[in-house]
Amino acid sequence: MNAPDTMPPIDLLESDPERFRRKAAAARAALAHDPHRPAYHFTPPANWMNDPNGVMQWNGRCHLFYQHHPDGSFWDDMHWGHAVSNDLVHWRDLPIALAPDPGGPDRDGVYSGCAVDDDGVPTLVYTSNQHPDQTVSLAVALDPADPELIRWRKDPGNPVLATYPPGVEVLRTDDGHVHFRDPAVWREGDEWKMLLGSGIPGVGGVVLLYRSLDLRGWEFVGPLLTGDQEQRDPVWLGSMWECPQLFPLGERHVLMVSVWHDKRTFYPACLVGDYGSNRFVPETVHVLDAGSGYAPQSFLDERGQRVLFVWLREQRGSAAQTAAGWSGAMSIPWLLTLGNDATLRFAPPAALAALRREHHHAHDIEIAVGSDWISPDIQGNSLELIAEFAPGLTGASGLIVRRSPGGEEQTRIGHDPVQQVLFVDKSRASLDREAEHTGAEARFALSAGEPLRLHLFVDHSVLEVVANDRVLLTERLYPTRADSLGVGAFAGDAAATLTALDGWEMASAWD
Ligand code: FRU
Repeated sequence: MNAPDTMPPIDLLESDPERFRRKAAAARAALAHDPHRPAYHFTPPANWMNDPNGVMQWNGRCHLFYQHHPDGSFWDDMHWGHAVSNDLVHWRDLPIALAPDPGGPDRDGVYSGCAVDDDGVPTLVYTSNQHPDQTVSLAVALDPADPELIRWRKDPGNPVLATYPPGVEVLRTDDGHVHFRDPAVWREGDEWKMLLGSGIPGVGGVVLLYRSLDLRGWEFVGPLLTGDQEQRDPVWLGSMWECPQLFPLGERHVLMVSVWHDKRTFYPACLVGDYGSNRFVPETVHVLDAGSGYAPQSFLDERGQRVLFVWLREQRGSAAQTAAGWSGAMSIPWLLTLGNDATLRFAPPAALAALRREHHHAHDIEIAVGSDWISPDIQGNSLELIAEFAPGLTGASGLIVRRSPGGEEQTRIGHDPVQQVLFVDKSRASLDREAEHTGAEARFALSAGEPLRLHLFVDHSVLEVVANDRVLLTERLYPTRADSLGVGAFAGDAAATLTALDGWEMASAWD
């Protein structure tokens, strides 16, 4: 029996663009009243979404493909969903780009992959899943001049890479499945390079490097980097790496991998270092997002900006996701740069400011030890907040969001200078005991005299936090009360001064 508030199933398998558009619009309208459904973070029109795939800019427009189950809000039967945007803020749903072919090498799912420009032809390179194997396949845009790139044709030669390298033993789980997936391809000189994520049994995650002249015939070059699953410091990297991506940033190279172990997904990790002679030598390793984020993918836009999307996993049970009729949200597009300390810096795209509505400002708020300050005018479930605290904090302090008037529900985001962490405390985030109450923390220290700066995007069940431009932490929040809208600030073991707080209500990105 369905619970009374369960959404009726919405089937998004429709290839006619006009009919699809109507279906997707109807699905979005039907889900718009869900208090947990984000308004300005990308979500699938309905049903399940995981990794961002094939992100790219083509003839000015940004294309976002995503792992998608078009027929239910749970992970199954992977397709590539597709949306397009002129500004990275407003999206338009397009028909499913890739579906599994019965009898084809992708019959058990079109898994993650990337997009490249093959001499004027947009080309998708993806994982074709045929239990228990994973191979690499291609699809090309039927009409590269179509601004929406709606139609894709799979390569008749698929799979273009049929098996893992000879002599390399890749991870196989006890169910027999081989873990060898998620191609990331780039142009280097006069050849193509490709990474695949895998694991070496008993050793750790591995990124395998290939080369090709035509995207269709691939030669194994060697492992780009191999991890050590026993090593805990500074970051444990598990036994298998999903969704690798290597790209230049500033004067260095960044390698992103998503840490997988024993059939569980952990967190995306970011390694910054040097790439040359087909090897990558990391200098720093950090967790990209210790919260809900996973499987990030980035692209270089036409202005030369490195734009990152991260899948924000649900943090509530599968029954709640099924009842909701949708699952999964995408981070805002984060613009990446590199700091002098060889770690990432995160900035929202300027275009996002188009969604800012009513603005409120507060300044020089003194918060006594162990007390909270509640803003008299900033509140809501769709907000952008920018806060700065006076330097010299000696106790934990930060912001409060999604707070009910009596404080029964609230989420605290702060910096603890003693533990040297940025944290999201979700112990009271929701009165719904089924929603995950474990928050997250990330290593974060301020230098002497540096003020704490918190940049928050609150969007219904999504919370994205960036501290001092350099630490990203995302969480999912499911407050039950309609009045859990309050915003404030707190001081723990020591008084704090909130020098400035700016809050904007954010409009929906959908018409
Ligand atoms: C990461 C991942 C990828 C895989 C895809 C399947 O979340 O497991 O490794 O290609 O999702 O949906």
